Amino acid sequence: MTAELPRPLHAPRASTAGGPGLFVTFEGGDGAGKTTQASLLERWLTEKGRATVRTREPGGTEVGVRIRDIVLHHRGHIAARAEALLYAADRAHHIETVVQPAIARGDVVIQDRYLDSSVAYQGAGRVLDADDVRALSLWATDGLLPDLTVLLDLDPDAARRRLDADDKPFDRLEAEKSDFHARVRAGFLALADREPERFLVLDATEAPDVLAARVRDAVEQRLA
Ligand code: TMP
Repeated sequence: MTAELPRPLHAPRASTAGGPGLFVTFEGGDGAGKTTQASLLERWLTEKGRATVRTREPGGTEVGVRIRDIVLHHRGHIAARAEALLYAADRAHHIETVVQPAIARGDVVIQDRYLDSSVAYQGAGRVLDADDVRALSLWATDGLLPDLTVLLDLDPDAARRRLDADDKPFDRLEAEKSDFHARVRAGFLALADREPERFLVLDATEAPDVLAARVRDAVEQRLA
């Protein structure tokens, strides 16, 4: 009898699982303005009469809130692979219980961060293998990719100045050194290069209303 060979962890199956909704994610470094842009998009879609679900990772479910507390606020070291698994666990539960049902109902899901954050932060930032990290998330979510990913690109020094101005204590990831954040930024840009049809890359130093108009155009095209 021949031994069965291990398969690759996951061969990605693109997009929104055949549901009638739309899945839009916002990505970028800390302080890039994702939350502002997600709120502006939500307001515009609501005014147009579209049902939306506004959510985030980590922490978009009750289970996720507990995982978020560990990954962002645990005092002390967490092994890089454990951190990657915690984000993937949050994602698996969130996608199955919140995002997939919303897409199936026909809603537009507007989400702060998704698997590209894992590839950028745990892959490029923590220096785990980027393909392994992506495959782990694709396994966790049964291959779900967003219809549109808006990457708000910002120089890490400028981002740090924005976070300093906020005067809030830094979480575990925000507290990482500037070379970590430089790798994360490069990681995001490399992902956008690999999938130009999924990504909209915006210069986060532009005015919020200018950025919001670019986001609306991209969403409108995908809704058409
Ligand atoms: P935020 O929700 O305030 O953006 O904080 C989440 C933090 O977690 C942020 O620093 C990015 C980080 N993160 C990862 O390292 N990997 C991931 O997969 C996700 C979703 C977030």
